Amino acid sequence: MIKLRINGQEKQYDGDGEMPLLWYLRDELGLTGTKFGCGIAACGACTVHLEGEAVRSCQTPVSAAEGMSVTTIEGLDPEGDHPLQKAWRAQAVPQCGYCQTGQIMQAAALLKQTPNPTDEDIDSVMWGNICRCGTYTRIRSAIRAAAKEA
Ligand code: FES
Ligand code: FES
Repeated sequence: MIKLRINGQEKQYDGDGEMPLLWYLRDELGLTGTKFGCGIAACGACTVHLEGEAVRSCQTPVSAAEGMSVTTIEGLDPEGDHPLQKAWRAQAVPQCGYCQTGQIMQAAALLKQTPNPTDEDIDSVMWGNICRCGTYTRIRSAIRAAAKEA
């Protein structure tokens, strides 16, 4: 039995501990805001927070989260009003939207550690989150705006 906390709620998982956390979130808990892109930790679509750190849930076994707190996009802010989410809306960042959960979760981890990031700080953390629609300029701009508001 694996005990963990998901978005503040205690959960118990009674299956294969090697199963990716992503499948537990999406298929067992219905938290489908977190996306599957590549499955090999190469795109960032599946990014969630494990104890506040951004991790790729497609390559994180459920067992690695034992006793820990996991935050998904659904738990980032109860009203969807995290400064990043507000900036994302204000700047209409998404195009197709598929990568955006991962982008926001990665950016939220960045702002927690570095509240006033430079462009270099942003690029050094966000480079692994791929956007096939090429929204990178708006992503950077929204992160800067959120940093000012936070
Ligand atoms: S689906 Fe996890 S990094 Fe691409
Ligand atoms: S908005 Fe389409 S992949 Fe990023």
